[in-house]
Amino acid sequence: MNERGFTIWFTGLSGAGKTTVSKIVADELKNRGLKVELLDGDVVRQNLSKGLGFSKEDRDTNIRRIGFVCQLLSRNGVVAVAAAIAPYASVRKENRELISDYVEVFAECPLETLVARDAKGLYKKALAGEIKNFTGVNDPYESPTDADVTFHSDTETPEASAQRVISKLEEMGYLESEKTISGYTKDEEEKVNQRLADLGYL
Ligand code: ADX
Repeated sequence: MNERGFTIWFTGLSGAGKTTVSKIVADELKNRGLKVELLDGDVVRQNLSKGLGFSKEDRDTNIRRIGFVCQLLSRNGVVAVAAAIAPYASVRKENRELISDYVEVFAECPLETLVARDAKGLYKKALAGEIKNFTGVNDPYESPTDADVTFHSDTETPEASAQRVISKLEEMGYLESEKTISGYTKDEEEKVNQRLADLGYL
């Protein structure tokens, strides 16, 4: 079993699926026997970052604090899963450098879809000018250009997005590939089957 801790950071606009997909990923990692801690922006803002607003300065402070906690957890063998917008590329980069084992996941979804969904009713308020610095509407979001995984919550299910993340973690060596019943990993099994087929046995 891989005992290395690491951080998975979900970045993306409000409503893009960060919380939903991060929970599915966290549950899957727990099922695989890993210690996992979830740091969700909406929750962190009620305790660790209570009192902070949405100015650039406050957001940067929020993201640095979450990054600091992720680093403490990761270096102690825990998988830290953060789900916070983190709109500015420079602070995301700071965290990537601070936390040596850092995997960035971009929850991508067109703004039109988010506005149409508007699960929390915040886009409507922002578009009406009732919320000033709302990310994506009247405040910046610098889309990542170096995310390790990108999922599209407008065209795929949360489970498919979560699987994308898990597969990437396996590929990066943070997770062991699930063994199939034969005792081979899925990749190995595919290769064996292909070889057997080539030899005419299948
Ligand atoms: S971040 O910019 O500092 O990373 P964070 O992820 O913690 O943001 O919080 C975002 C959540 O706060 C959103 O999901 C939304 O529910 C709420 N929120 C309230 N005001 C704003 C705003 N001006 N911009 C973005 N989100 C806001």
